[in-house]
Order: sequence, then structure tokens, then C-alpha cells
Amino acid sequence: MVAKLQVQNLSKYFLTRDGEPRKVLDKISLDIEENEFVCIVGASGCGKTTFIRSIGGLIPAEEGDVRIDGKRVEGPGGDRGFVFQHDSLLPWRTVLDNVIFGLEVRGMRPSQSHPLGMSLLKLVGLSSFENHYPSELSGGMRQRVNLARALAIDPDVLLMDEPFAALDAQTREIMQRELLKIWAEKRKTVLFITHQIDEAVYLADRVLVFSSRPGRVAADIRIPFARPRELSLKRTPEFLKIVDDIWSLIEQEVVASMAA
Ligand SMILES: Nc1ncnc2c1ncn2[C@@H]1O[C@H](COP(=O)(O)OP(=O)(O)O)[C@@H](O)[C@H]1O
Ligand SMILES: [Mg+2]
Repeated sequence: MVAKLQVQNLSKYFLTRDGEPRKVLDKISLDIEENEFVCIVGASGCGKTTFIRSIGGLIPAEEGDVRIDGKRVEGPGGDRGFVFQHDSLLPWRTVLDNVIFGLEVRGMRPSQSHPLGMSLLKLVGLSSFENHYPSELSGGMRQRVNLARALAIDPDVLLMDEPFAALDAQTREIMQRELLKIWAEKRKTVLFITHQIDEAVYLADRVLVFSSRPGRVAADIRIPFARPRELSLKRTPEFLKIVDDIWSLIEQEVVASMAA
């Protein structure tokens, strides 16, 4: 059986200010199985966003390729849903109209899209907020709407780039737990980027550690904790040990990236 998501020898270059090509991703290869939850951690600037955008088909793979169900990714598609750090909600549309935007674009009639949108709002804990506007919501609520919108097109693969980074610590923890609940219900293949190691270890089946300059997969760590996972897991010695191990893998690069 082929993996849900296959990345083979993916490399990516950007031009420096002097016009010199600089390698940002170096021959990354990995497989992600169906319904797997994979997190990527790594120092700022190591290429995480570039990597997830390549998988999304938002930027072309210059070398190597990305396949979903064995089919080569040539651009964005309905098989992949995105959630970014900063919500990209349309301020002039209500919460419900934001959630169903992608369905509307695909020509679904309101009689179909509205009930679907309402059920997704229920799933993300925002029943009764359908007529609010994004500006009336907190950051955590906006990210819930974003998630509902990404789920609306029913993608197989969910691509999340630091979706909780702008949230306060408490909201962030609640969102992590909620995301796992939704994932258990919807069964998606998830690729989730974060710079918080404890977030990665709490969420993931596997944590990929990226190294910098150029970005490579330096370690691929299986997270052994049973599911469902309680937030209290984060306070156990076993959990803290894994977080510590990952931290020691990237510490030098994080320090270097702060100096850069
Ligand atoms: N459009 C671009 N043009 C030139 N350089 C870029 C571009 N996008 C990202 N980079 C560079 O590529 C490297 C990786 O960036 P990014 O993928 O955003 O890293 P991360 O998400 O891990 O912080 C950084 O050095 C960044 O400056
Ligand atoms: Mg990034």
C-alpha cells in the first residue's frame, strides 16, 4: 500500500538578495500514513513553512515531488485544507458564511452548505455564533472558525502552519485538546507545524525535527503515548523526557537562528 502523503527528494531554492540561489530544503523524503498526525518542529527559518507550502502546492517543488494517494501534486487542491497562524477570515462575511465560503465557490447551494456549516460550527464549539462577524470573536474563536472552514471541503489532508502560535497559553492548550478530539472524530491525515515542542509531542504520532540551512529531517521520533490524551499528560516525566530530548536536538540551531 502506498502512503497517503509521499515526499521524495524535495529540494527548494530561494534567491538571496545578491541573486545567488540558496538551498532552503535539501532532498527531503518522507511518508505519512493515512490518518497519521505528524508534527514538524525546528528553529525559526529552517524551512517549515516552505515545506508545508510545497505540499499544499502553493509553491512549486523545483526538485523531487510530492504525492497524495500516489498522485503528483501540481497545485492547490480540494484534497488538502489549510490553517495558517493568522486567520484569513473575510471580515465582511459572518462566521457561517466564512465556513461555507469554499463550498459556495464549488457551487454548493445554501440549502446544502448551511446545515453542513452549522454542524462544523458545532464540532468546533461555536454553535450560536454563526451570525457573528470575525471582528467580534477572540483569537481562539477565530482559529476555530478557520479550522471549520478548512474542514468544510472535507480534505483528506489537513496542513496546519503554527495555527495556535498567536494564542495565549491557556487558550492554546484548550485548542490542542479540541483539535485532537476533532481529529479522532474526522480522521484526517494531519501535518502540523509548531515551534513549541510540547505542543508537538502532545499532538503527534510522530515528530519530525528539521535542521537548518538547508532544511533537512534530522530526526523522526515516534510518540508512544496512548490516545485519547489528557492535557495532564504534559506534566508526566515520560512526556517531559521526550520534550527534553527533542530540545537538545535543536537547541544549538535555535540559538543560532536568534542571533541571525
Ligand atoms: N519567498 C521567499 N524568497 C526568498 N527567501 C525566502 C522566501 N520564503 C522564505 N525564504 C527564506 O527561506 C528560509 C525558510 O523560511 P521558512 O520556510 O519561512 O522557515 P520557517 O517556517 O521554518 O520559519 C528563511 O531563511 C527565509 O528567509
Ligand atoms: Mg514558518
